[in-house]
Amino acid sequence: ARRKSILDLYKMKEQGEKLSWITAYDYPMASFAEQAGMDMILVGDSLGMVVMGYNGTVPVTMDDCISHCQSVRRGAPNTMIVGDMPFGAYQTSDEDAVRNAVRFLKEADMDAIKLEGGVRIASRIRAITDAGIVVCGHIGLTPQSSGALGGFKAQGRKIPGAKAMIEDALAVQEAGARMILLEAMPPELTAFITELLDIPVYSIGAGEPCDGQLIICGDMLGMFQAFTPKFVKKYANVAEVIINAMKEYVTDVKESKFPEDKHVYHIQDSLEDFEKL
Ligand code: KIV
Ligand code: NA
Repeated sequence: ARRKSILDLYKMKEQGEKLSWITAYDYPMASFAEQAGMDMILVGDSLGMVVMGYNGTVPVTMDDCISHCQSVRRGAPNTMIVGDMPFGAYQTSDEDAVRNAVRFLKEADMDAIKLEGGVRIASRIRAITDAGIVVCGHIGLTPQSSGALGGFKAQGRKIPGAKAMIEDALAVQEAGARMILLEAMPPELTAFITELLDIPVYSIGAGEPCDGQLIICGDMLGMFQAFTPKFVKKYANVAEVIINAMKEYVTDVKESKFPEDKHVYHIQDSLEDFEKL
């Protein structure tokens, strides 16, 4: 299939076709997603937790993100891919935000970029949009500011918080973002925001009533073992598959059961000639 564009996302929204979206950080996972018919991929800065072993996303750098985006693009050449702006890449100024957003397109062939925040980040969204780059907003639980939020906590569960989420959603659309991701908020609020906005609204942990879903590959595949958020559905237990396969290999090596005859390259000349060596 051809790589989707923002116009395809609008058409899907209009026709009520839900968008399937997953994170990937490397070549094999990207290739699996494309083979599975995934509508879109996010190279999230969750890579800091899922593949780099940090406790959060704050330490992830622009160079980390670009490098992983390049691998993902090679694995999924025909899939729409969103690059995620890491902490520090857009907090300082509109100019820094544009410069870093540009890198995702020039160096890693991303189709769009995502950044966290609503009202407080509106001028960044406007500046990047004015540079001709498709922006995905991200509000609700914003992991880069988990320190300020007091942890990885659902947002908008009470009226003042819900009001703030609605203001953030409107600010993101007003600033020019072409789509928005809601993370960890009540489905009732998600439905309200989806009704209110014109741009496609996607959810991770924000319930079903919107235009599509995002999930983290490490969570849904059972590869990330540190913790599992409430909103994750585990579709496989890949960690168990890998550990069992490796255990079997360890045993095979110890018991001289691997390699077998079919795994070796036999000599092609006579054995005597080899022995003369
Ligand atoms: O980095 C990421 O994967 C994300 C999702 C958690 C929304 O931003
Ligand atoms: Na992220």
